[in-house]
Amino acid sequence: MVYRALVGGSPWFPDSIEGDRVVLRKHVPENVAAFQRWYSDPEVARLARYQDAPMRADEIDRFFQLRALGHESLTMAIHERETGRLIGTCAFSQVDGENGSGMFHITIGEKDRWGIGYGTEATQLMLDHAFGTLGLHRIALTVFEFNERAIRAYRNCGFVIEGRSRESIWRDGRWWDELGMSVLSSEWHERRASAPPQARSALG
Ligand SMILES: CC(C)(COP(=O)(O)OP(=O)(O)OC[C@H]1O[C@@H](n2cnc3c(N)ncnc32)[C@H](O)[C@@H]1OP(=O)(O)O)[C@@H](O)C(=O)NCCC(=O)NCCS
Repeated sequence: MVYRALVGGSPWFPDSIEGDRVVLRKHVPENVAAFQRWYSDPEVARLARYQDAPMRADEIDRFFQLRALGHESLTMAIHERETGRLIGTCAFSQVDGENGSGMFHITIGEKDRWGIGYGTEATQLMLDHAFGTLGLHRIALTVFEFNERAIRAYRNCGFVIEGRSRESIWRDGRWWDELGMSVLSSEWHERRASAPPQARSALG
């Protein structure tokens, strides 16, 4: 049997994905200004980047053109539902339709929106799309072990730690591991089946 997820087909890149508190939309060229602010912030760089310094403006611009507007990744802007405010970005990269796998990335760039559930909801919406619509089999990510907020949000969405690259990052005067986490479609289906009806609709 040949396994093929719906990668590249019409449902692959939806115009929007609606959640209760966030809405994911396709990026538009004007979003580059927000990318410039987010990715030049040392606090964001500390949590998400191997290099200690933030990206330079030209690197951010290239990253935006390639990652947010390009079609190699499935990248969605995260908007606050109530206000429409653009608060972050999330993506699947390295999507492999034959093996049903992809890598997940997320940045809530607006720091006054950290820790109030938006990252968890955006991640859940992306997983619902990956498993419920595209029929992917496995979504993976990497995260630095000191990024406890991110790890917690990922765990809440069903990701489990599957490995660690030992002492692969030097930050704040010491070595830290980078964790590999993943979630499988069977686990996503189980969570949906065991969730109470109200939570099930929140799970997609
Ligand atoms: C990581 C990120 C996407 C998480 O999104 P978020 O909206 O801030 O997180 P949420 O509010 O949805 O969930 C955070 C969870 O961590 C907990 N938390 C919040 N602040 C925390 C902190 N400082 N330390 C540990 N846990 C924390 C929350 O209580 C919540 O868990 P709970 O729902 O079980 O109570 C977002 O913070 C972000 O983009 N950070 C900067 C870039 C980054 O780190 N990207 C990920 C790189 S792998």
